[in-house]
Amino acid sequence: MCGIVGYIGSEQAVPILLESLKMLEYRGYDSAGVTVFNGSLETYKIAGMIKDLETVIPQNVTGSTGIGHTRWATHGKPETRNAHPHLSSNVSVVHNGIIENYLELKERLSGLGYEFLSDTDTEVIAHLLHFNMNCNGNKCLLDGLAETVKELEGSYAIAALCAEEPDILAFARKDSPLVIGIGEESNYAASDVTAFLRHTKEVIFINDNEIGLLRPGSIEIFDQGGNRLSRDTETIEWDLEAAEKAGYEHFMLKEIHEQPTSIQNTFAGKLSELEGTVTLDELHLDPAEIKRLRRATIIACGTSWNAGILGKYLFEKLAGLHTDVETASEFRYSNPVLCGEELTIAITQSGETADTLAAVRSSSSYGCRSIAITNVVGSTITREADSVLYTRAGPEIGVAATKTFTAQLIALYMLAINFGRIRGIISANEAKDLIVGIKRLPGQIQKVLGRKEVINECAMQFADKHDYFFIGRYLNYPVALEGALKLKEISYIHAEGYAAGELKHGPLALITEDTPVVAIATKGHTYEKILSNIKEVKARNATVIAVADDDDTEIEKYVDVVLRVPTSHELLAPVLSSVVLQLLSYYTALAKYCSIDKPRNLAKSVTVE
Ligand code: F6R
Repeated sequence: MCGIVGYIGSEQAVPILLESLKMLEYRGYDSAGVTVFNGSLETYKIAGMIKDLETVIPQNVTGSTGIGHTRWATHGKPETRNAHPHLSSNVSVVHNGIIENYLELKERLSGLGYEFLSDTDTEVIAHLLHFNMNCNGNKCLLDGLAETVKELEGSYAIAALCAEEPDILAFARKDSPLVIGIGEESNYAASDVTAFLRHTKEVIFINDNEIGLLRPGSIEIFDQGGNRLSRDTETIEWDLEAAEKAGYEHFMLKEIHEQPTSIQNTFAGKLSELEGTVTLDELHLDPAEIKRLRRATIIACGTSWNAGILGKYLFEKLAGLHTDVETASEFRYSNPVLCGEELTIAITQSGETADTLAAVRSSSSYGCRSIAITNVVGSTITREADSVLYTRAGPEIGVAATKTFTAQLIALYMLAINFGRIRGIISANEAKDLIVGIKRLPGQIQKVLGRKEVINECAMQFADKHDYFFIGRYLNYPVALEGALKLKEISYIHAEGYAAGELKHGPLALITEDTPVVAIATKGHTYEKILSNIKEVKARNATVIAVADDDDTEIEKYVDVVLRVPTSHELLAPVLSSVVLQLLSYYTALAKYCSIDKPRNLAKSVTVE
């Protein structure tokens, strides 16, 4: 969701900015633009894609300082005049986030004679910066920006240029991600590291309320009080290949295929089959504290929330810990009853989801300890939460979460086993069984991937349907929710995920011969129950697609299509069934010629409320 980039160095800025913007395309956008210092500030922008932007930038634009932006419309339609950068005479600004007091600032600046050309909140930043530099004393770009951000309410990551200071790129951050890349005689600024991974892996994550400037060979960072900060650099472990398609038609397909490795990375070095233990030293949790816990609250959005439902079942079964799962956007405006001996677990692959961050801040204000489960090193949640469990799935570029979802499931299994052992709810042998099962999952996922042609055939058979239902019970309920979410977001088919027992309380009215029903029917203590639910929908003429274990010889009698998964530990089957449903969605979207990696209206990282 919106991406900012900046470059200052000795090479031509335009190709670097365009390439960086392309790397951020996955975040979601509808317009794009750049400003380059070419003797003066030259700005090119367009409502459309980066490839459209390339066509409006003249070949002869040179200059080795520039900023760029991909915009995902919030204030004002996706029109060229609303695209960033926004200008005010000699300054140019790109911005991620939302300025909540922009109307008030706009009124004031209009009164001072500033003319607004867009409907955006960002344009006030450009005019306010110009005002602070030129009319409110005579300030340099950095001091002008420091003055400006004092007046902004809301969230921002800003990169700014001034025509009179061509060797400086200024930046500021509050509640919106910003990372600096350190090159040789060149520096980069961006919303995430993928933007400049081709050039450098040495980075500094900018914290909230920090401001600074880049020169070709130096970086200066200051706190709110103007004190210079000394910051260590970090090295990113991902390589560029991980952020490229590697021969796959879509990032989503590549990321689905990466799951045998990505989940292995999630659990690597943490599982002891011999002792039946899961070691999560990075959480720095005191066993006494884990024993005392009375409740956990899982906070998340979308796919991460679906993972959270599985987490609830696991914590309750394996750790005897009462667990609630809250949608972050609701939680932040509710009146939660929380107390100190409770734990908040925020699940967010990006680590930047605005609602999840706000909900964690809210729970911290009650004195709850928080753990973040995230995939992105250095993301905002890692600084908000008390401890972090990284999923280490590698960069996920496709908007639809796939490998980060299964990695979240693995993280939740590990937490639940760890807590369960410490709290004395599960024995070493029970833990061993699960650990052996988790270690088998990469090979079992590989088997599922090997059956993709069968899933493809099934997807093609039903790709023309308008409605789909996904049903499951207990641990297969979140799998059903996630299957439906995946299908609707990338194939635009209306899909509902339901706890199978709920069908007869309303949705059964919608079941006809034209409604495929996907029943997640792996073996477990609710197996007989899901068979009854399958019979219910069959009686209404639905076509039933079952996801079932390899050794289930009974299921074929009741359903129309069976998609098989290797038989696994009952608690672990959701991982395998989820891979089947990811492939089903992928091939359905493929059959419908949908924009799989960048579905309409969606963004990868939802940094606004
Ligand atoms: C769906 C999807 C979204 C995200 C949601 C939360 O495929 O990707 O539903 O799961 O926006 O994002 P994170 O996990 O980054 O907080």
